[in-house]
Amino acid sequence: MNNNDNIYSLAAVGVQQLIPYKAGKPIEELERELGLTQIIKLASNENPLGPGKKALAAIQAVLPTLALYPDGSGFALKQALAKKYGIHESQITLGNGSNELLELVARTFLTPEHECVFSQHAFAVYPIVTQAIGAKAVVVPALNYGHDLPAMLKAVTDKTRLVFIANPNNPTGTLLSQESLEAFLAALPETCVCVLDEAYFEFVSSTGTINSIAWLQQFPNLLITRTFSKAYGLAGLRVGYGLSNTGLADLLNRVRQPFNNNTLALVAAEAALTDAEHLAQTIAVNTQGMQQLTEGFKKLALEWIPSAGNFVLVDVKQAAQPLYDALLHKGVIVRPVGNYELPNHLRISIGTSEENSVFLKALAETLANV
Ligand SMILES: Cc1ncc(COP(=O)(O)O)c(C=O)c1O
Repeated sequence: MNNNDNIYSLAAVGVQQLIPYKAGKPIEELERELGLTQIIKLASNENPLGPGKKALAAIQAVLPTLALYPDGSGFALKQALAKKYGIHESQITLGNGSNELLELVARTFLTPEHECVFSQHAFAVYPIVTQAIGAKAVVVPALNYGHDLPAMLKAVTDKTRLVFIANPNNPTGTLLSQESLEAFLAALPETCVCVLDEAYFEFVSSTGTINSIAWLQQFPNLLITRTFSKAYGLAGLRVGYGLSNTGLADLLNRVRQPFNNNTLALVAAEAALTDAEHLAQTIAVNTQGMQQLTEGFKKLALEWIPSAGNFVLVDVKQAAQPLYDALLHKGVIVRPVGNYELPNHLRISIGTSEENSVFLKALAETLANV
């Protein structure tokens, strides 16, 4: 009766073999474990400036209404997004973080008879949502740490229902060109849905332009996912969205739970869209911070992968896990990426200039001691 092991054999086969997602270590956890108080977290690609003032004011204003269920259709937020992108509200699906969209699309299109194609070193949620359903994951070797689109296209078969592409990719920060993506979408069979995961698109500089919205008219099998967790500083509220044609959105909505976005999340996201100042500041801090970190790496004779996101992957030229542990003891949380087949790299989320300085100092000291 108390033997817990039997319950595992009852689970769906894919779930039995699933390796759960490993999130960045929360500050409170490190406080509990090591009794430290001065901790900085550069581990989950969060916004170092926090949420904007407009989002915070919107949250404050709706607190008295919390006894009521949220608007399950997310009407006002969808209207604001539709206006922003020049599309119809029926093309938008709201998610509890863009993670939920990744799961909804997998549940909508994959079965144990189907295959899902994604790249080596791509976002860790793709294998999880695929395997939970028992579909076959087809992992295509990366090219220069990024997606090899021609090889991914070759990996698509009659059984492929889904392709995930992260642009920029997490954790490598690599960015695909507009032309290469368009050629990929044009060549992809219509029987296969392409998820273009643009969680970091606000950080992409004008030189790397991403303009995927226009493709929605052209490709009925395209789902673009974006989020309020990164550039908008609302990771704790969990709001993301999918943009697609109406049919695809209708299918995702059938699977979606009725109140998947809470009231605070809905109003904060809507307000955040109007806060151009906070977004501009966020991007400026990210650009400066990226420069600060990469200059620091240069001084330490370390190489990094040029990143289009709000994080950077640095090659520490040795097993990264012990360095990660040593940094924890100095109150600095970064992200080891051994689970992405990158055992000698650490992923650093860009922080404020003070946080970046603390990290670089801790890294230099740690490297000097190994
Ligand atoms: C590539 C990518 N996609 C999606 C997500 C999911 O973010 P959220 O669920 O907070 O929108 C993340 C978060 O780290 C990510 O890196």
